[in-house]
Amino acid sequence: MRGELCIGSATFLSLVALILLIFMHVGQISTSNVPRNIAMMKVNMTGFGTGLAAATAPDPVTGLYTDNASTPLAQHLGLRNFYDFGLYKYCAYVNSTHGTCSHHVTANKLQPYDAVTNDMPDQYTIITDALVASFPPTAFSDSQYLGQFSRAAYYLLLLGSIATGLALLVGLLRHALGFLASTVFAILGSLFLLIGSVIWTVIVKKAQGINTVIVPTSPPTPLGITVETGNGLWLAWSAFACLIVSVLPYMISCCTYRG
Ligand SMILES: *[C@@H]1O[C@H](CO)[C@@H](O)[C@H](O)[C@H]1NC(C)=O
Ligand SMILES: *[C@@H]1O[C@H](CO)[C@@H](O)[C@H](O)[C@H]1NC(C)=O
Ligand SMILES: *[C@@H]1O[C@H](CO)[C@@H](O)[C@H](O)[C@H]1NC(C)=O
Repeated sequence: MRGELCIGSATFLSLVALILLIFMHVGQISTSNVPRNIAMMKVNMTGFGTGLAAATAPDPVTGLYTDNASTPLAQHLGLRNFYDFGLYKYCAYVNSTHGTCSHHVTANKLQPYDAVTNDMPDQYTIITDALVASFPPTAFSDSQYLGQFSRAAYYLLLLGSIATGLALLVGLLRHALGFLASTVFAILGSLFLLIGSVIWTVIVKKAQGINTVIVPTSPPTPLGITVETGNGLWLAWSAFACLIVSVLPYMISCCTYRG
């Protein structure tokens, strides 16, 4: 009876971890509403028009944003208010509901600065580059740093997801050796998910350095770019928690199961 309880809870935990990871992966790939709102990092550009206008005063800032939700991305046709970055693509929204998504994120790299400056009309791209370069550097505009680390983290999360799936599948065979293999997959998967989630957490934290940048006008004006952690990252952390908790029951199952 205790054996069945262990097998059941290990299976349940790894199944929950797998479901959470699937949501993390399909976020934004699917066009239906719930997964579409899953992102690893969110950027709010709403205040940037004000920040840029303060920096370029007395010249006014006009035509920086587009309010047409279907305008193509990355063609300097207008900035959007909100940018959501997922593992495979990013979406840009003119308001809380309407937006358009990129075909894919280049080689799974997170490059938010490129995404936003490639939407600005050309003259504002040049001004923004000069303005951002005049502040102490932040990771937000360091596309090389964010790109490399997000890519490494992506592969770790992918390996962690595959290991989670294998732990679940092999465990369903209900064989002592199978539970041993599930234990190993759950341990490896937890490790990959942990490192991947830590890297994502660190790069989002570093990118948030942009949140407190102030344009030194009088009175001082915030630059108006706000970076937030996306719910996809919480899914990754939750999957890690479920999977690591499943290690113990898998281990007990492998030691006690007489099939
Ligand atoms: C975006 O930022 C602006 C200020 O810059 C703030 O007023 C607004 O509430 C933010 N919106 C969201 C959805 O976070
Ligand atoms: C919005 O942009 C799309 C794609 O560029 C274009 O086909 C459409 O006519 C635009 N709509 C408006 C109202 O400007
Ligand atoms: C968002 O923008 C779209 C297209 O510009 C518009 O049709 C829609 O009513 C807007 N929704 C809200 C909540 O403002």
